[in-house]
Amino acid sequence: MDNLKTKYLGLELNSPLIVASSGLTSDIDKLKKAEESGAGAVVLKSLFEEQIKLYGHTMRGGSSYPEADDYISYYTKSHSVDGYLNLIRSAKETLSIPVIPSINCVTDGEWIDFARTIAAAGADALEINAFFLPTSKDMKPDGVEKMYYSLVERVADILDIPVVLKLGYKFSNILYAINQIYKRGARGVVLFNRFFEPDIDIEKMSIEPASVFSTAADRRYVLRSVGMASASDIRIDISASTGVHSGDDAVRYLLAGADTVQVCSLLYHKGVEHLSVMNSEISEWMKRKGFSSVDSFRGSLNYLNFEKPVLYERTQFMKYFSSYE
Ligand SMILES: Cc1cc2nc3c(=O)[nH]c(=O)nc-3n(C[C@H](O)[C@H](O)[C@H](O)COP(=O)(O)O)c2cc1C
Repeated sequence: MDNLKTKYLGLELNSPLIVASSGLTSDIDKLKKAEESGAGAVVLKSLFEEQIKLYGHTMRGGSSYPEADDYISYYTKSHSVDGYLNLIRSAKETLSIPVIPSINCVTDGEWIDFARTIAAAGADALEINAFFLPTSKDMKPDGVEKMYYSLVERVADILDIPVVLKLGYKFSNILYAINQIYKRGARGVVLFNRFFEPDIDIEKMSIEPASVFSTAADRRYVLRSVGMASASDIRIDISASTGVHSGDDAVRYLLAGADTVQVCSLLYHKGVEHLSVMNSEISEWMKRKGFSSVDSFRGSLNYLNFEKPVLYERTQFMKYFSSYE
């Protein structure tokens, strides 16, 4: 399917469909299957600093030998990191599609150490999965945002490979945020991550995780931002993520201006093999509409190109309410 070729972060992809960071990209067999099924690239499951630390802490279990605690903590950390580095190396040896590791850390020093080592293992790019949750009323919003910007700057400064920031959608001005991230050296941005959200079970009277899987309806949180960011003069690549539940959904994000489209929940439900169906759906749509390449229609319905940009701007229902009276 030559007509699906696309570029992302300067890398050549055979398809705009990327398997998003998740359990679907956590071992080499799954990665091979993703490539065989037509993935344009894979983002490896995030290496969570939090997870590594927690695991180390549990294993320590309050030992009365602090030296042993330190050793176990060190071992746990290096062992997890080693496993991850081996996955990058074997993915690079086995696959011909780009391999993009993902890291999630909460301290500046750790970010930078992991980033260096991961790049040295042969990664084609690095995706940073970051979410800073303010839990204090005294923390100013711009202080939280600056944490993302300085993080990107520090990582981009030391790496030769492209750095991508995967964001949550709760920014006061997402265009400003993307521009700041771009100015600090990021080559790409993923709009958006879907985070763990708490829910309440009223029978058990406990906090439970809300559904981790998206539905196609979740696309609506993303489409406007993709359409507006791709129409701006920020020269950053955009990978759309959340709510892609068919090849047609991928087409929607491409029309809004995404460079690539990441898929996760759908592949949990239907299997990674479903990527080939999605690629066919995109190809068939292109044939029907007379497009010979992804570039020939990418962004044609973004904020700049769509003749009614007011539909991107409208946030209140005014006119639409009247039909529901
Ligand atoms: C089970 C599961 C595990 C995930 N793990 C990660 C992860 O390790 N790192 C990350 O950046 N995103 C992770 N995500 C988020 C996905 O990469 C993706 O951005 C999100 O699910 C939205 O895409 P979707 O609507 O296609 O599911 C995970 C999602 C799911 C459902």
